[in-house]
Amino acid sequence: MSLRGKKVLLGVCGGIAAYKSAYLVRLLTKAGAEVRVMMTPDAAAFVGPLTFATLSKHPVAIDFFDKQTGQWQNHVSTGLWPDVILIAPVTANTIAKLAGGITDNFLLATTLSSRCPIYLAPAMDLDMWKYQATVDNIAKLKGFGHHIINPVHGELASGLEGTGRMAEPEELLEVMENHFQQVKGPLSGKKVLITAGPTYEAIDPVRFIGNHSTGKMGIALAETCLRLGAEVTLVHGPMQVTCDDADIHSIAVTSAAEMLGACEEAFPACDIFIAAAAVADFTPEAPSAQKIKKGDSQDGSMQLNLRRTTDILGTLSAKKGTRFVVGFALETSNGLEYAKSKLEQKNLDMVVLNTTADRGAGFGHDTNKITLLDKSGEVINFELKSKAAVAQDIVQHIIRRLHA
Ligand code: CTP
Repeated sequence: MSLRGKKVLLGVCGGIAAYKSAYLVRLLTKAGAEVRVMMTPDAAAFVGPLTFATLSKHPVAIDFFDKQTGQWQNHVSTGLWPDVILIAPVTANTIAKLAGGITDNFLLATTLSSRCPIYLAPAMDLDMWKYQATVDNIAKLKGFGHHIINPVHGELASGLEGTGRMAEPEELLEVMENHFQQVKGPLSGKKVLITAGPTYEAIDPVRFIGNHSTGKMGIALAETCLRLGAEVTLVHGPMQVTCDDADIHSIAVTSAAEMLGACEEAFPACDIFIAAAAVADFTPEAPSAQKIKKGDSQDGSMQLNLRRTTDILGTLSAKKGTRFVVGFALETSNGLEYAKSKLEQKNLDMVVLNTTADRGAGFGHDTNKITLLDKSGEVINFELKSKAAVAQDIVQHIIRRLHA
């Protein structure tokens, strides 16, 4: 199973098993997870933070502030970042402090500030593992809802043999994979079809009619739906940005006609259709098979006859059944009025309106400012936000409507 896009905060405590955690970072990142590492000061004596920083491609958090610059590390925002915290190895000392709510280092304060599931992979000598306080603390942490990945039997760093070895990195990876398989997002089991980007309508083999759409909004929507558990198909025109997520089924097309064909194929299986593409409304009636030459014009003028393209959204929405269908409206004026008429005319459940008059909204920007209009008559205005945050607003509204 892929861990693509999953955020794992790995805590490393001071035990010899810390060297295995370096390999664990490698396994997790290879599986697609975004890994950040926090260490106790003692752990940094076993394995250099540089090793973890290099493998995770992120700075390692150890102290509340940088002793040289005084720069503050925010344990609260770090704690709210991950989808899951895995502390491996976790020592008897950190287990006791977690059970007692003690926060005298960054790793502990961050763990207590988190809201995500917490997995603990203990590593210690066999007698420490059997010590009554450790047994009680483990029971207490289980009572908090923390998951304990039991240590295994084997030779220990002390030379003794018994139970106390940290589970192997491969096993810890499997625990993480199982965790994310069980976590079902609000869109799990749903198939989402999204159109994105512009379409190019050929005039001749080297020229086309296009528009400034980059596809960023459509990609943000696809990534958001995927993260929330959906199976996503993205039908996109020629985009300036690429969608790198291998778990998104991307279909590249060029013209409106090709986009229609790809959507007609995917639409029957989908539960939600979001038409974010800036599809050309007109296409050259008779594209030239040869490059048009200046000399083809007798008097210096040139006529280009256009015909309407098929409205993909309107065509598919006419047979929408129980599907939830969302359209976009990019307007220069009278936005609300036009968006409302699109909602009705195209038989939509929701329209996302953006107005070119709003600064930072629409084509090319990394931000967008939208108004959502839905079938129930609800109109919601949003602030200017990043396209990722806008995608989150749109998808959350869809989820709310699906459950209404
Ligand atoms: N759309 C589509 N197929 C087309 C044209 C548009 O699927 N051939 C979709 C877009 O993806 C978007 C919505 O329809 O979701 C936009 O509606 P549309 O009526 O085309 O808006 P405009 O292109 O702005 O046209 P007009 O200004 O004439 O209303």
